[in-house]
Amino acid sequence: MAFRAALAGACCLGLLLLAGCRAQNLTVTDTDLLNFAMNLECLEAEYYSTAINGYGLNSSTLGNGPPAVGGLKANLSPELIQIATELANDEINHVNDLRAQLGSAAVPCPQMDIGSSFTTIVSKALNIYGFFPYNTDVNFLLGAFLFEDVGVTAFHGAIPAVKDKANLELLAGIAPVEAYHAAILRTLLYQKGLEMVTPYNIRVFDFVQGLSNLRRKAGGGKDQGIVVPPADGRNTSYPFANLVPQDGAGKAFQRTPDEVLAIVYGGNSTQPGAFYPKGLTGAINGTVAAS
Ligand SMILES: *[C@@H]1O[C@H](CO)[C@@H](O)[C@H](O)[C@H]1NC(C)=O
Ligand SMILES: *[C@@H]1O[C@H](CO)[C@@H](O)[C@H](O)[C@H]1NC(C)=O
Ligand SMILES: *[C@@H]1O[C@H](CO)[C@@H](O)[C@H](O)[C@H]1NC(C)=O
Ligand SMILES: *[C@@H]1O[C@H](CO)[C@@H](O)[C@H](O)[C@H]1NC(C)=O
Ligand SMILES: *[C@@H]1O[C@H](CO)[C@@H](O)[C@H](O)[C@H]1NC(C)=O
Repeated sequence: MAFRAALAGACCLGLLLLAGCRAQNLTVTDTDLLNFAMNLECLEAEYYSTAINGYGLNSSTLGNGPPAVGGLKANLSPELIQIATELANDEINHVNDLRAQLGSAAVPCPQMDIGSSFTTIVSKALNIYGFFPYNTDVNFLLGAFLFEDVGVTAFHGAIPAVKDKANLELLAGIAPVEAYHAAILRTLLYQKGLEMVTPYNIRVFDFVQGLSNLRRKAGGGKDQGIVVPPADGRNTSYPFANLVPQDGAGKAFQRTPDEVLAIVYGGNSTQPGAFYPKGLTGAINGTVAAS
């Protein structure tokens, strides 16, 4: 209910000027939610696959959607190649699982940008120009950090609105895998936290915080970096860890589709950009059908 109200609210506040927007409740179906989740998985799968192989998803996984632009085979250490390979396989499976569940209702993957989108987002977050995620281990981890936490919050947002038990079972099976991924990235970045991101002369901790701050601003105030000051104010010999972003009651943050779109579009849920230059495919895409 809160979920439907949030969508209706987004319509009234954000979309009133767009043709076809009505002050009415949108009916969000399971199909819409699964396609929305699949759009996010398409991005993750393209990023990891391209980084390890130099090319992305095949046309059956893309559902005949266009190949992503801007990615490259990454210059990674042997251990990170192994980690990225495991993550890629999970994400490809997620896209294919969702396609199988949706059947003929599955949409094609959307046009995705996995190159200059990162450069643009990092410039907004940190006033750093020319960032590219495929140069080094740490850049690759920072790139993945940008979207993995968003996926976790998107699944937590979508799951309570899913009606059918089999759909729920699928999303509930994917969500924790996304949380594992996010935790792997956060832990690896935490271990490298005091290193400088070259050539920008900024610590990994501070780089991550800048990305988190941007997501917090765009996506409903729900985000945390990987370190926090200790609650008791004491000094610790290494920055105090915050590997698990959570709401204070031990639960992952929950974002509405609108909040997710604002982040992945680069700031505004009604204006496609950043990772999705032409917007998401499927009914949850930031525009409302004219009718
Ligand atoms: C939208 O849904 C809410 C909650 O179900 C309801 O209270 C409200 O009257 C509905 N608004 C419209 C315009 O249908
Ligand atoms: C496309 O990739 C998937 C996942 O890696 C694989 O299972 C499938 O056989 C491939 N399809 C084609 C037509 O190559
Ligand atoms: C923590 O370290 C800072 C800088 O080294 C120092 O100014 C401060 O007094 C220390 N705080 C505590 C609680 O020890
Ligand atoms: C998003 O873009 C729309 C359409 O241009 C605009 O009306 C709205 O104010 C923007 N929202 C934010 C949060 O900037
Ligand atoms: C975007 O969503 C609207 C409203 O749900 C829908 O009519 C339109 O077809 C969607 N666009 C795409 C590309 O799926």
